[in-house]
Amino acid sequence: METEPQFFATNPTQGVVGQPLSRVDGWAKVTGQAKYSAEYNQLPGLVHAVLRTSDVAKGRVTGIDTSAAQQLPGVLAILTHQNLPKLAKTPNSPDDRKAFASSPMSFFPMESDQIFYAGQPVAVVVADTLEHAQHAAALLKVSIAPEVPVASYQAPNAQLYIPKTVRGYQPGVSKRGEAQAAFASAPVQLTATYTHATTHHNPMEPGATTAHWEAPDRLTVYDTTQGVSETQRTLAAMLGLATEQVRVVTKFLGGGFGCKAWVWPHVVLAPLAAKAVGRPVKLVLTRQQQFTGMGHREEQEQTLRLGATKEGKLLALVHEKTSTTSPWEDWAETNSRIVNMLYACPTFESTYRMGRANVMTPTSTRAPGDMPGSFAIESSLDDLAYQLGIDPIQIRLLNYAEHDPTTGHPWSSKSLRECYQRGAELFGWSQRNPKNGQTRDGKHLVGWGMATASYPVHSSQGNARVRLYADGHAVVQAGATDLGTGTYTVITQVAADALGLLPEHIRFELGDTVLPSTQWSGGSTAAGRVSSSVYLAAQEVWQKLIKVAVGDKKSPLYQAKPADVVVERGRLQLKANPAKGEAYGEVMKRASMSDLEGSALGRYGAGYEAPQATANANMNKKEEAAPHSMHAFGTHFCEVHVDPELGTVRVTRWVSVMAAGRILNPKTARSQVIGGSIFGIGAALMEQTVRDPHLARYTNASLADYHVPVNADIPAMTVEFIDEHDPYVNAMGVKGIGEISIVGVTAAVANAVFHATGRRLRSLPITPAKVL
Ligand code: MOS
Repeated sequence: METEPQFFATNPTQGVVGQPLSRVDGWAKVTGQAKYSAEYNQLPGLVHAVLRTSDVAKGRVTGIDTSAAQQLPGVLAILTHQNLPKLAKTPNSPDDRKAFASSPMSFFPMESDQIFYAGQPVAVVVADTLEHAQHAAALLKVSIAPEVPVASYQAPNAQLYIPKTVRGYQPGVSKRGEAQAAFASAPVQLTATYTHATTHHNPMEPGATTAHWEAPDRLTVYDTTQGVSETQRTLAAMLGLATEQVRVVTKFLGGGFGCKAWVWPHVVLAPLAAKAVGRPVKLVLTRQQQFTGMGHREEQEQTLRLGATKEGKLLALVHEKTSTTSPWEDWAETNSRIVNMLYACPTFESTYRMGRANVMTPTSTRAPGDMPGSFAIESSLDDLAYQLGIDPIQIRLLNYAEHDPTTGHPWSSKSLRECYQRGAELFGWSQRNPKNGQTRDGKHLVGWGMATASYPVHSSQGNARVRLYADGHAVVQAGATDLGTGTYTVITQVAADALGLLPEHIRFELGDTVLPSTQWSGGSTAAGRVSSSVYLAAQEVWQKLIKVAVGDKKSPLYQAKPADVVVERGRLQLKANPAKGEAYGEVMKRASMSDLEGSALGRYGAGYEAPQATANANMNKKEEAAPHSMHAFGTHFCEVHVDPELGTVRVTRWVSVMAAGRILNPKTARSQVIGGSIFGIGAALMEQTVRDPHLARYTNASLADYHVPVNADIPAMTVEFIDEHDPYVNAMGVKGIGEISIVGVTAAVANAVFHATGRRLRSLPITPAKVL
């Protein structure tokens, strides 16, 4: 049977893809040439906006006296709920919200006098300098009639409820089999409750929006966003503009971790302020405002009931989660997903409970749901292992899921066994003392722990454009964003291989809505989607050029069948006779083509075994590989030293082994895994935002009081990747590693603390007071 002709470029495993290329944007970053959203200072007449926020968590604004502020020099405008132009639309109902690509809250501040959370903006002050704006904002006399707030789901005045859906897509209650009954009759029953403090993303670069109305109906916004297209569509809806009237530019991001995945109030207030003063406006959140301006990971507790046989085989998992949400959204991280899918277990049940409190809506934070969910399942499994006297790795192998237990579908690929094996080797797990509380190093108790990691490959798609020039360079474009994790670099590598050029001859442009649109950088989707789009766009270029060559009398390939022509490092040649062919530049010169363009859509579930079939596939067709369950898997191994007198826990060794499909660049990938592990160690041992139980206000909203790991807290880390071929996930076989790197980390640390001390700590963070 004739198949579609396929035109493969250089094999993407054999060129610069897979090499530890240093960041192509590294030079621009260390020399300060990389321009972040708050650095468009050359805009004509740029002025500064500052937010004044509410100290009160619930109440009504009864008055704002602006007289003193208005008399200051340089003050251009003071916007309050009394004079802020009404938005064209706010996402007030779940149905309504479908029109918004990226709005995390149905409530928008300053549309009325209502205060729902501490830190809510009550005024925007615009002035010629930042200092004038700050001074004026401080002089505003804001009167608020306070009401008694609800501080969290744990507060006595909180009312808990089971939502119909969580985040609009997971049911409040879900069941697989009869888990309650299976638990009740299980020979081994474990019940444990886990708590997780509120945590904040705290990216190095805070939220920042620079808004420039280039014409009354043409807005350009430089914004710290993980998704320029989503921000464009949401801003257009809220401001009553057509999508094409809004341009969003994000050339560089200083981290995001999920908090920059959404359009928060300040992103909308900046263009409103710019409109009010008729000049470009820059609005940057302060470090303190970062704690109340861009969401957080919600405080939560999970109760996991685990039923098993005496041999350690799982029979039942009953999972309940209770957490705090805002007054308007049924938001919770979907923890149950990973509890349900990680191990072979015949029954499962999950229930979400929420309490509305006076906080802004929590939001996606690195591996939302899977990160705290893994703490519960991976700690409970460790409990089970100790209770039955089985090695923690053995108990995981005993319950190894050969297919996805939630759907029964086969995995597109799964190399978790290899991860356990390699991780154990690298860590020296075979030397482990099976008894806890037995190993000492001087006065310190020493403990070893491990945990499994997993993260789904989410459905996503996006466009890319490749323009190849006859003189040997190329411009590659996709409206993606680089969180700082290496998108610029890995996509340059993919383009170089696909076009047969050196990386220095590729210019990859991203972060602008004028470029081909692609979905946000979130959910660990960007590397797989963008690399696949670019790879397929390059195939289109070659396909066009081969057509020109075989129709050109002067070409050695004249009258060859297109399907017999392949491309090797930029050279078009016969598959059967590679000597017969020519460099692509020759073909283009004879045809007087200065350049040639291709574009393509990279899609989830369209594997690289047949890239051309993918390119030709009907976009509307359902995902081709739907019957496969697609996940990355991995393991973390941790050693801790615990000071029994001080209760301090120090991580002294760390090994992570990940299997995540094709690794485009082992250097940037390793940095991702190190970063995710450190983020998780922070959540395990020190990170927590404390909300005052009476005032519902954060008491430690600063980087001085919110503890994150520093260099001295982190040992040298070992990271390895298992070579994994996944023919289903996307055209490049890339699963993504941004989020899996944090999953399982808190459990690996807590399990090590248990091994060291014999104390099972289920409340994060594990601060010294809890250890003693
Ligand atoms: Mo990620 S928490 O999906 O940006």
